[in-house]
Amino acid sequence: MKLAIVKETRPDERRVAASPAVVGRLVKAGWTVLVERGAGEAASFPDAQYAAAGATVVGRDEAWQADVVAKVRPPSLESGKSEADRMRAGALLVSFLFPAQNAELVGHLATRKISALGMDCIPRISRAQKLDAISSMANISGYRAVIEAANRYGSFFTGQFTAAGKVPPAKVLVIGAGVAGLAAVAAAKGLGAIVRAFDVRPTVADQVKSLGGEFLTVQIAESGEGQGGYAKEMSKEFIAAEMALFNEQAKDVNIVITTALIPGRPAPKLWTAEAVGLMKPGSVVIDLAAEQGGNCDLTQPGKEVVEHGVTIVGYTDMPSRMASVASDLYGTNIQHLLEEMGGAEKHTIDLDNEIVRGSIVLRNGEKLWPPPPPKKVDTPAAGPATTAKPVTVTPAAPATPTPAPAKASAHGHGPPVQPPSRTAGVVMSIVGVIALVAWLALRFGAPDATVSEGTVDLLQHMTVFVMAIFVGWQVIWNVAPALHTPLMSVTNAISGIIVVGGLLGARAVDMDASVIVAILATLFATINIAGGFLVTRRMLAMFRK
Ligand code: NAI
Repeated sequence: MKLAIVKETRPDERRVAASPAVVGRLVKAGWTVLVERGAGEAASFPDAQYAAAGATVVGRDEAWQADVVAKVRPPSLESGKSEADRMRAGALLVSFLFPAQNAELVGHLATRKISALGMDCIPRISRAQKLDAISSMANISGYRAVIEAANRYGSFFTGQFTAAGKVPPAKVLVIGAGVAGLAAVAAAKGLGAIVRAFDVRPTVADQVKSLGGEFLTVQIAESGEGQGGYAKEMSKEFIAAEMALFNEQAKDVNIVITTALIPGRPAPKLWTAEAVGLMKPGSVVIDLAAEQGGNCDLTQPGKEVVEHGVTIVGYTDMPSRMASVASDLYGTNIQHLLEEMGGAEKHTIDLDNEIVRGSIVLRNGEKLWPPPPPKKVDTPAAGPATTAKPVTVTPAAPATPTPAPAKASAHGHGPPVQPPSRTAGVVMSIVGVIALVAWLALRFGAPDATVSEGTVDLLQHMTVFVMAIFVGWQVIWNVAPALHTPLMSVTNAISGIIVVGGLLGARAVDMDASVIVAILATLFATINIAGGFLVTRRMLAMFRK
């Protein structure tokens, strides 16, 4: 199968659909990779690096004739030089497509019998996180927003005591704590600023705190949890309370980074002209929602303007400003999508695969977008909807770093750990009651009979067994994912004890039930130990450079 990485033609686009490192992995996986001449130049990847990685550097026409064409931006549609017309019928296009906004392009590709997968349409389910290009790019945008702000802000982010005097730390407010917002919180905190964040979804509060930020709240009981972890549109009352909070914050903070979006709607206007007017001269607003109209009244998409002495940046190409890493991550997302589709050898469009079904827009010209609603609900990384608790407006006080909460996902994207479900609790209780009844029946059921030594042994073992299940269940479910590695060491130690106990138990001459159980216990504990070492090796390999 021929896979082509073509050159982006939009003037402000510096990314390319795969870095040489990704191309190397694709070649190893069996793809014949063609790279259009100069495709990676703007991302600092010369043709020679692609050739060294095993790709063939080709001209534009040859690249666009491949079986699979990968690019970043949707193909251009202008008459005369349309990229959409360059592909051959039946070929597969993999790129950002935004089918709702690009109906004409999708219609045109359909007439050409093209198959198309939208990298923006990857379903937001846990299994698809490694393919999620929107998140990869949002993460870069959040980080870059802080760098752009630091570049324009005339002071330090971190507070300083110098011989010449004291410099207070910068105060950063992040509005919208999704992927980009959390990346901005982490980056600003890393530079030493006091960071606050606000979001309509109360579930993100723990994630903000775990990154060292302060989560601001309003005194209105309304949750912004919408479908699939996204936000929903809020009531007028909530937005009014939010604005009042922001006007208070405007007088205090130096930098505002806005990222608030609601799927299928223009970006909500949250940072008003009045709020900009309340900010100190020299302050900076970075509006990451600029492409969707902006969260700030005064944002001009794609531009940087100064109003009331405040710099307002509305760049719409943040990931492209870090083209090298953006191309590498985007390419890795594409690589995982291609693997999901069977790789080079068994490449197929399998509509039973929920990731493929979610992201396919066209199959040989047949429009398959939007996909049907998912059959089973996969926990979005945001976790389940919760009811917003009415809480007081938090005063503009310095944020105190908070240790990572036990139940928040370590990276902020993974599903928060759920406590044992109610059903599990009921099952455990029933097992406990049955064990207790059995114990009582055996111990006191026949008052006349003397309790044999075997029965006492059985009772003891049964008590330990039930207690072990119960305690093990409770302990393991309450351990945060970040602590699963140390947990594994503990379970390995326990397995070691089981092996010793099992070996002692299996010494008996008669092959009775207890010997069989001891042998099985030794076997399973050994598997656990060996598995633990294997997993640890794999995890260590991830950190080796
Ligand atoms: P987004 O880009 O659609 O929105 C950014 C943020 O703005 C969201 O956190 C949203 O709640 C917030 N927002 C909306 N209206 C607001 C308002 N009026 N005031 C303040 N904030 C407002 O969101 P993003 O970053 O794309 O992710 C949304 C969630 O989806 C993530 O937090 C994550 O939990 C989930 N997700 C799941 C993935 C997966 O399971 N594969 C991958 C990525 C994200």
